[in-house]
Amino acid sequence: MGITMLKENIIKELEGFKSENRFRTIKTNDKSLYNFSSNDYLGLANDKALSQRFYENYTFDNYKLSSSSSRLIDGSYQTVMRLEKKVEEIYGKPCLVFNSGFDANSSVIETFFDKNSLIITDRLNHASIYDGCINSNAKVLRYNHLDVDALEKLLKKYSKTHDDILVVTESIYSMDGDCADLKKICALKDEYKFTLMVDEAHSYGVYSYGIAYNEKLIDKIDFLIIPLGKAGASVGAYVICDEIYKNYLINKSRKFIYSTALPPVNNLWNLFILENLTLFHDKIEKLKDLVNFSLNTLKKANIETSSTSHIISIIIGDNLKTINLSEALKEKGYLIYPIKEPTVPKDTARLRISLTANMKKEELDAFFKILKAEMKKLGVM
Ligand SMILES: Cc1ncc(COP(=O)(O)O)c(C=O)c1O
Repeated sequence: MGITMLKENIIKELEGFKSENRFRTIKTNDKSLYNFSSNDYLGLANDKALSQRFYENYTFDNYKLSSSSSRLIDGSYQTVMRLEKKVEEIYGKPCLVFNSGFDANSSVIETFFDKNSLIITDRLNHASIYDGCINSNAKVLRYNHLDVDALEKLLKKYSKTHDDILVVTESIYSMDGDCADLKKICALKDEYKFTLMVDEAHSYGVYSYGIAYNEKLIDKIDFLIIPLGKAGASVGAYVICDEIYKNYLINKSRKFIYSTALPPVNNLWNLFILENLTLFHDKIEKLKDLVNFSLNTLKKANIETSSTSHIISIIIGDNLKTINLSEALKEKGYLIYPIKEPTVPKDTARLRISLTANMKKEELDAFFKILKAEMKKLGVM
């Protein structure tokens, strides 16, 4: 949209969104609804006892609510430096904390890649990855979602003509709940020369330190991005990369340089979660069990999904039908947001059910019965 766009055009565009049933609004959700739309996968953000433990050691300096400065001026306070050190200790590579996953993703791409680069990205990568691609001015090629063979074909063809190739993938996909084959993608590095960036927004916490860590792939990944707003129960993101890249980001990344650092209280909480992550083993196992239970129950109920994780996506297709299903479930006491374009491709509107470790099998069982009944009533299965 250009700066000179007239108000009438804006109104017309918004009316268009309404007529296509994809006008977005913001509202506070009814807290009494059973929440299937939260990304607090391990339940840490809603764990009162845990936050009480966190606040036990209150001192004004550590828990300050503003950093009052960017990282390069007065915002590299002790806690954020300790946090970066702790991440480095665990992952074996330096870390730079960004204010958000969105900033981290777009910054890495726009800082290191330019019009001479080629970026090969999974078609369904997050908007922040696409923003980085646009800002970089690089040539961008998209491969079909999770299709490593298609990725390899592109690498085979373009590695002859391009020296500077970035491949970007997420691990668990936010809107599909499926998982990229990180091992296979990393193995392609043995044959083709490229830089690899992986976003673990939806796997950090759920898989403890993440899938890349568990599969011992950290060395193969040039930029590991860990946004903290999901199971991390917080805000901000870790960019884990070699020292030379870290220094370049500190010197060149506009979003890192020209933005106020996160408040100390947030990074102290990030450090607290990271230091305690191994203690949440029970929650991780419980969530795994709920995932298996839910996927089996859906299969028995003949409700289709291609999801394989704690995010279960039920594709309905039509926007209005998806909204109606979401509303019908709300009437029954469940909060499940309908997801529509442009967040997901056109005609793939869906219910996105996110499971969290605090849920109970009996509750899920009851819900899936109601889901099936409502889907039948609306003629979407
Ligand atoms: C895959 C993925 N990456 C990055 C982000 C952005 O992270 P943040 O919310 O910290 O900006 C999100 C969503 O928020 C996401 O789903």
